[in-house]
Amino acid sequence: MYVCLEGIDGSGKSTQLEMLGEWLEEYGLEVFRVFEPTQSPPGKLIREILTDSKASTPQYQRILGLLFAADRMILMDKIRDAEKQNKIVISDRSFYSSLAYQDDPEWIQEINRYIQKPDLVILLDVDTRQALSRFEGKDHFENQKFLEGVRKNYLELAQKNNFFVVNANNGVRKVHEDIKIIVSPRIGRCV
Ligand code: TMP
Repeated sequence: MYVCLEGIDGSGKSTQLEMLGEWLEEYGLEVFRVFEPTQSPPGKLIREILTDSKASTPQYQRILGLLFAADRMILMDKIRDAEKQNKIVISDRSFYSSLAYQDDPEWIQEINRYIQKPDLVILLDVDTRQALSRFEGKDHFENQKFLEGVRKNYLELAQKNNFFVVNANNGVRKVHEDIKIIVSPRIGRCV
């Protein structure tokens, strides 16, 4: 099973991924953790570009779209291997991040055509002001107006693709409980 946590910057995905991973391991399941962008060469280039003031220009958005797709393509083999070993793949972001963050969804769909989609997507939905208060924005996607647009895209994607939406304005423990309620029936575990 491939489970993905999605959400705007500051939605608490990394903390929740860690808590989810520990909870699954306590139950005796083997977990493979994924963070997009990864540590691959395109992933490293992505992180460099994200700190550049040009990152939000249309040209760089396209460059990033291609690099994210390449990074993901490299990742796919690792996800398949983990699934073959019956591990639960839990991921901080996926293809849906490109749809939420980059321009031109049809083109993004096309360049991600061969990418495996997660079986279960949980959107951590948070108010942008609260999200921004959780980190010191150093990437060029981390400003309120931009994040408002990304949040709107995510909510539309959630409707179209049947994501589970969790209110991430709540405290860390409550969000974790909500995630467990969604995941537990899929792994045959009681909350
Ligand atoms: P992170 O902060 O979750 O590590 O992600 C780095 C940034 O990359 C974050 O601002 C979201 C952005 N991003 C995209 O724009 N498109 C993508 O496809 C992915 C995976 C991330």
